Amino acid sequence: MAVFCRSAASLVKPVFLLPSTFAAVRHYSSGGQFQYILVDKKGDNNNVGFIQLNRPKALNALCDGLIIEVNKALDSFEQDSGVGAIVITGSERAFAAGADIKEMQNRTFQECYGGSFLSHWNKISTVKKPVIAAVNGFALGGGCELAMMCDIIYAGEKAQFGQPEILLGTIPGAGGTQRLTRAVGKSLAMEMVLTGDRISAQEAKQSGLVSKVFPVDQLVSEAIKCGEKIASNSKLVAAMAKEAVNAAFELTLAEGNRLEKRLFHSTFATEDRKEGMTAFVEKRKAMFKDN
Ligand code: CAA
Repeated sequence: MAVFCRSAASLVKPVFLLPSTFAAVRHYSSGGQFQYILVDKKGDNNNVGFIQLNRPKALNALCDGLIIEVNKALDSFEQDSGVGAIVITGSERAFAAGADIKEMQNRTFQECYGGSFLSHWNKISTVKKPVIAAVNGFALGGGCELAMMCDIIYAGEKAQFGQPEILLGTIPGAGGTQRLTRAVGKSLAMEMVLTGDRISAQEAKQSGLVSKVFPVDQLVSEAIKCGEKIASNSKLVAAMAKEAVNAAFELTLAEGNRLEKRLFHSTFATEDRKEGMTAFVEKRKAMFKDN
């Protein structure tokens, strides 16, 4: 059976699959399901979900259709027990140049408010599996916000981050003022939001917005490697660890520490915690079963 799977390099490659494996991958095969994104599974064990924004003519501007597709792909990966981490990337020129300005140009207040415009954008911040943004090129406005909804940001050395909405007579609407401020502090966030100035990958690294910077052509494979490392741990416990770290942005220190302790205690109800410690004592590699 030949199924056309799209690769990161935008090539459409025929992949031959046995009938029994078809059901497992069909979510990620082309077949016309996605217009604006390429979806695949990566890594030696096929355990890293991979989403590539693919609207090159508009520098991956985030039109409604694109966001809906990203949300669908995230849902598929959440339900796929073989996937332990997700990488989201764009092209070498642009991760995403923001919300689609042409789509927004004639919108009214009533349409935005009444239709809760942008309310479906935060899906990426609600998935349980760890998500890594691999950012090459422009990450502006909603593009920067999308990256900041991810758990880890890796940047290519030519990446540029910015919240230029002020130059369009508006302000960030998908978490830019909140997440950027938490990531880089008040002064730099204010400067970026009030001037629309961009920062480089190196500045983003210095300010804590991104964790690592790589040469442009190595970025995606490094992000996939990180995804594989995460996916080799217990998916159940990784979700708990992610929940605990995210709580640091919502709770007081005392509340956060209490939640962390409860989640820590909860790992003692899992087979994976027992396996992890037993493997250490027996000097072997742990075999996690996600339960
Ligand atoms: N929306 C729609 N189309 C966009 C776009 C966007 N955000 N960004 C770029 N494009 C389109 C351009 O209109 C152009 O299309 P045409 O060829 O049909 O004219 C194409 O992508 C290529 O763009 P440029 O010719 O402008 O390329 P450039 O290299 O000269 O400049 C850029 C690149 C600096 C990223 C510039 O395109 C730019 O400033 N884009 C807008 C960035 C921006 O303001 N983003 C914030 C949007 S608002 C927002 O995101 C709100 C929110 O909080 C959710």
